[in-house]
Amino acid sequence: MNKHIRNELIQRAVDAKNTSYSPYSKFRVGASILTDDGEIFAGCNVENASYGLAICAERNAIFQAAFAGKRKIVAVAVTSDERSFLTPCGACRQVISEFANGNAEVILISSTGKTKSLKFEKIFPTPPALKHLKK
Ligand code: THU
Repeated sequence: MNKHIRNELIQRAVDAKNTSYSPYSKFRVGASILTDDGEIFAGCNVENASYGLAICAERNAIFQAAFAGKRKIVAVAVTSDERSFLTPCGACRQVISEFANGNAEVILISSTGKTKSLKFEKIFPTPPALKHLKK
């Protein structure tokens, strides 16, 4: 991915964190995804008084892309207010796997702006073999 797009993807995740609705956990998360046609979609976590209904920033971004008709994710970026690197939760990894292959880039961004890149296969090495459901 070229540097300009990468920086844009990172900035969109950071900006998305500012719209986080997280009055219960007070844990703000922002995410962005890059689709195969070069578009970027962002999302924040959105919580609810019925706690279990919270949606993570990653899934919010992915569902927005899906609604826009996008079906292929080539990169995901995620950030929080932690100095350490937040990695997507298990549920989000499963949802990412619906639209991304193992080569997709996962960019983790600390609250101080440090970044770390991983291949998606590193954090989700054995996706469930559910492909037959698509037939
Ligand atoms: N959260 C995310 O948005 N993404 C993650 O990768 C981990 C957790 C949200 C869910 C909830 O709103 C808050 O962070 C605390 O778990």
